[in-house]
Amino acid sequence: MNADILLGLQWGDEGKGKIVDVLTPDYEIIARFQGGPNAGHTLEFEGEKYVLRSVPSGIFQGDKLNVIGNGVVLDPALFKGEIESLEASGHDLTKRLLISKKAHLILPTHRLLDACYEAAKGDAKIGTTGKGIGPTYTEKVGRNGLRVGDLLYDFETKYNAVKERHLMILAQNNFDVSSLEEIEKEWFQGVEKLKQFNFIDSEHFINKALLENRKVLAEGAQGTMLDIDFGSYPFVTSSNTIAAGACTGLGVAPGKIGEVFGIFKAYCTRVGSGPFPTELFDETGDKLRKFGFEFGSVTGRPRRCGWIDLVALRYAIMLNGVTQLIMMKSDVLDTFETIKACVSYKIDGQETEDFPFEADCNIEPVYVELAGWQTDMTGMKSENEFPEEFNNYLSFLEQELNVPISIVSVGPDRDQTISLLNKS
Ligand code: GDP
Ligand code: IMO
Ligand code: MG
Repeated sequence: MNADILLGLQWGDEGKGKIVDVLTPDYEIIARFQGGPNAGHTLEFEGEKYVLRSVPSGIFQGDKLNVIGNGVVLDPALFKGEIESLEASGHDLTKRLLISKKAHLILPTHRLLDACYEAAKGDAKIGTTGKGIGPTYTEKVGRNGLRVGDLLYDFETKYNAVKERHLMILAQNNFDVSSLEEIEKEWFQGVEKLKQFNFIDSEHFINKALLENRKVLAEGAQGTMLDIDFGSYPFVTSSNTIAAGACTGLGVAPGKIGEVFGIFKAYCTRVGSGPFPTELFDETGDKLRKFGFEFGSVTGRPRRCGWIDLVALRYAIMLNGVTQLIMMKSDVLDTFETIKACVSYKIDGQETEDFPFEADCNIEPVYVELAGWQTDMTGMKSENEFPEEFNNYLSFLEQELNVPISIVSVGPDRDQTISLLNKS
């Protein structure tokens, strides 16, 4: 059995959480492979809404096993908050959530370092989520990190050594560390909560499951255009968000990857700083934000909005080897008379279909304009109900992207999901 992957093709917040939940009944194990509590994955069903940060989105569909893989970075304090709010709504995960011993720990001082480095950047701020993601991955690569498995062996000595080093850096930058004591208190309470879960060698667990023909779905966080290697660097996150990240983040060999589900919005959003060629600064952008309720699930920040960018999407599809596309939030365009799609860029008068090295340069998007469907699609249950203009939009995208669209989402609820059966 191969592992399937679901990942974002834009700048994050494509709707990964919703679709992982929808696909979960087909799988036995759902595993997060990178990122950390910078993610905010929203799920809505039966009138309830949940936002998951570190916990995989397969926890609400029966007794499926969920794994936090080695590629994830975990903050015990935030994890405790997440688990306790799930417990309060009747979801006990202690038997169903397994955590890799090799996942790296976000320490209290990593959070301070994140804020310190952002402050030092002045006007060139990345606009991080402030969760310590960058410093934690930096230390992983620098071979200075602490891992979940370290909690079991003489942790205090290791912790204090790292903390002293961090305090030196913070002092050199005159950074106020007065909040540290309080953060540490919560963090160590979080460690006690974390220890109630099973710490495992998740690479063995997942490969054994595949050998036993148990189906595994790898859940990505962030999006391809935030990938550390291929995203709009330096305005990216600090992990590999692409399909290859599922191999390193779970210990699954490339030949053991099956379907790659690439998920995108029918338009485009981004939160934080950095290039966004199709961004709209006018009332159309405001309309997308209002109708799409485009405010960060983690930070509440308004998301920047724009038309769909097929240059960036083709690039993402190439990098991930996407086998099936999933289009989200098409209902947000329900009232638009016309819809634009960027098919190429003009850079210094030259037209290109390649995403450029310097995406901060003066990119002029070249648009194709299509007729809108001007129909409320939120109650639709089958593709037979799709308006003609919507079908035209789907066909146009499939032709431009060269990959079939197999699912369309017409609202935030689990039930507002339509499988395009003739395509999957
Ligand atoms: P993720 O990080 O990729 O899981 O996405 P987020 O949860 O951060 O953001 C997606 C937002 O869109 C959430 O508020 C979802 O509830 C919502 N959403 C998901 N699918 C749809 C859809 O088809 N239509 C609408 N209107 N909202 C959706
Ligand atoms: P999900 O999984 C959208 C963005 C931040 C910032 C940059 C770096 O919900 O799609 P970081 O804290 O990772 O160092 O921030 O990446 N970012 C996200 N944007 N969705 C996310 O996750 C994101 N995670 C990080 O806004 O621009
Ligand atoms: Mg999100």
